[in-house]
Amino acid sequence: MGFTDKQEALVKDSWEFMKQDDIPQLSLRFFSLILEIAPAAKNMFSFLKDSNELPQNNPKLKAHAVKVFKMTCESAIQLREKGEVVVGETTLKYLGSIHLQQGVADPHFEVVKEALLRTVEEAMGKKWNDEMKEAWGEAYDQLAAAIKAEMHAEA
Ligand code: HEM
Repeated sequence: MGFTDKQEALVKDSWEFMKQDDIPQLSLRFFSLILEIAPAAKNMFSFLKDSNELPQNNPKLKAHAVKVFKMTCESAIQLREKGEVVVGETTLKYLGSIHLQQGVADPHFEVVKEALLRTVEEAMGKKWNDEMKEAWGEAYDQLAAAIKAEMHAEA
């Protein structure tokens, strides 16, 4: 079954809601969950390597977190409209090569997925439910699959 109007709305509306919150705080939480789930991921991120704690308000940390959330949200919209994720070809090539260069491998995408879902869950509080989890999970999986395919093509 395709991605439904309702699933698209669940992702879009929750992202709109979360965005009103403190984005730097949200980004820090996302990264602390990534490190909690996979401490070794720390060495991949240039801005985490040399410190023992998460850098407050680091622009790169914030940029990666916001990109992952925003692109997952865009992916939900495309899944509903077109039935597939359509990342611009240059963007996809760039995403493939940057992750390959940084030593990112397929299992890392699961770590980021878990951290993403937990960040949304915490941010949404009582509004969080299984349907929302499914919708975010599906939108993320399809986006991750597109990036991974590009990484495999390039490797
Ligand atoms: C860089 C997006 C998943 C690790 C980037 C950049 C983007 C991006 C747009 C470039 C940032 C820039 O040039 O400013 C995404 C999206 C993901 C995803 C949309 C999932 C759907 C992952 C995963 C990992 C990862 C699973 C590994 C745990 C990195 C690293 C960089 C990077 C290490 C370089 C950051 C730096 O040190 O400056 N990602 N990413 N990403 N990504 Fe991802």
